[in-house]
Amino acid sequence: MLSRSPSRRRFIHASATVAAYSITNRNSAMFGQEPGIGQQRSSTNARVALGSNVVATVHPIASRAAIDVYRQGGNAIDAAVAAALCLGVVDGHNSGIGGGSLILIRTKLGEVHAIDGREAAPSASTPSLYIKDGKPNVELSQTGPLAVAVPSQVAALYLAHSKLGALAWSACFEPAIAAAIEGYAVGQATQNAIQSEQIDLARFEASRSALLKSNGQPLAVGDLLRQPDLGKTLREIAKNGPDWFYQGPFASQCAKHLQSLGGVLSQDDMSNYKAIERKCIESNYRSYKILGFPTPSSGGTHIAQMLNMLQHFDVASIYRDSPTKFFHLLAECMKRAFADRAHWLGDSDFVKVPSFLTEPNYAADLAKQIDLEKASIVSSYGNPFGSDDSKKHTTHLTTADALGNWVALTSTVNTTWGSKVMVPGTGVMLNNQMDDFSISPGVPNAFGLVGSEANAVAPNKRPLSSMSPSIVLSDDGTPFMTCGAAGGPKIINATFQNIVRCIDLEQPIDMAIASARVHHQWRPDLLCCESKLGGIREKISVGSANESEPKDEIALRLQSMGHSIKMFSSLAIAQGIQSTPQGLMAASDPRTDSSALSQ
Ligand code: DON
Repeated sequence: MLSRSPSRRRFIHASATVAAYSITNRNSAMFGQEPGIGQQRSSTNARVALGSNVVATVHPIASRAAIDVYRQGGNAIDAAVAAALCLGVVDGHNSGIGGGSLILIRTKLGEVHAIDGREAAPSASTPSLYIKDGKPNVELSQTGPLAVAVPSQVAALYLAHSKLGALAWSACFEPAIAAAIEGYAVGQATQNAIQSEQIDLARFEASRSALLKSNGQPLAVGDLLRQPDLGKTLREIAKNGPDWFYQGPFASQCAKHLQSLGGVLSQDDMSNYKAIERKCIESNYRSYKILGFPTPSSGGTHIAQMLNMLQHFDVASIYRDSPTKFFHLLAECMKRAFADRAHWLGDSDFVKVPSFLTEPNYAADLAKQIDLEKASIVSSYGNPFGSDDSKKHTTHLTTADALGNWVALTSTVNTTWGSKVMVPGTGVMLNNQMDDFSISPGVPNAFGLVGSEANAVAPNKRPLSSMSPSIVLSDDGTPFMTCGAAGGPKIINATFQNIVRCIDLEQPIDMAIASARVHHQWRPDLLCCESKLGGIREKISVGSANESEPKDEIALRLQSMGHSIKMFSSLAIAQGIQSTPQGLMAASDPRTDSSALSQ
């Protein structure tokens, strides 16, 4: 039944846009040229799929795994688990069972589950772990045995599945096992990832033999990549459950290997690891409810904070009058949020993360500091109480089913191929998530992020994340959209922009995802811009920072407003789903070979 509430009217309007949009574009869609089920390439270049059960991931094989599971009667949770496991095989430089996942689920009954499968620091970790010759050494937190935090994806997927899955746990593993054992043709993204990390991969025997040819050269695009050891490992976890991984043979083999290389992760660290169910961050934006991921993610906090700031502006008319001012306004919100992130945020089981960060009053004060005509200098974090106190990788996938289950799942091994250390005989590439801690105050991590004591290394603590799986509800409590991204800190701002575009600009999800983005993370004081700021993006070859991208007219105007501009060919890779009158619409990012499918 249609309500007459303002948000419903807005939604009908947005849906009309989607309807007109999808009919026009469906007629011109390239059926048959895109692999997959119900997938079209829309005029925004994004892949889109409309249906009752949908999925969007960065890889066609993973999206197809989700569809297989739907066909067997699985729900969105089973489909997300199958797709996540598959991505660990066909897109292992981004994510895998050697890394972690944050999962946000809205069930068909309207319950919300925020499953924290973030890696934890080994119990022997100390703040001096990465200090060498008196100086912080990021090489140690980024590559090799000390970079590894307790792998946590298996625990997170198991917790989600055991609570909410419909199919057997083992059924969700079949597509991933098949991809590992039978192999798959290496695509451009994997090839680039192997080539760019060739030297470090070659340092570790198991990584070298799994990913490089016998002559030490990277596999070429189109070569078949078989991962029999990973296939065997997945089969054991499918059959025996997570205990095989955390309490059994994998745990001992992993700890033994890391310690032989000088690492500190122990078998007890493995057996003590638990995925944790947390309370999601709920905030309101216009007439919508935003469900965000809490710490150890910083995403939910800062997306809520930035939306609270934007609440004080008529974003739609600002955009209509001047897209430049729209991007300027977003950048001003981003700067303030990231200044706070650097100071206040850390694992809330270890430090107190102040609740004012997501309060509307605090955002109102920050919004007053924003000048719509010129860039401001944000010298420090906010403190309402006046006390003293390019080679990056991850993946976001999303599923939703006809029953009303929605899943937003972000997984990562952190940077490309994580620590580069593969546990011999298992095919499991271990994360380098320890680099997401602030290894020393003021020392930037792989993403240029600085942090404070709040995010310092401590035993069993979880490093701060930017992963931001998010779900937006309409005022009647039904899901309106979901989105999330890969891209380190750019995740937060990409997700923020996608939400603003869908709500304020009433854009369909594929257009929101395809539109060019900006990113500001406070330090360094740079406004990162994709080119064609007023328009949409297309596939990029690789990499992110790219000085040779032309500064478009909007970027030049932003520069004249006082922003220091740096051009990027890609600011994050996002996936999303939106409710439309025609069904669920999944959309995946045109910046890579992503895949949206439906059934
Ligand atoms: O959790 C985080 O914030 C990072 N480890 C995510 C890394 C990432 O997104 C790399 N992506 N392209």
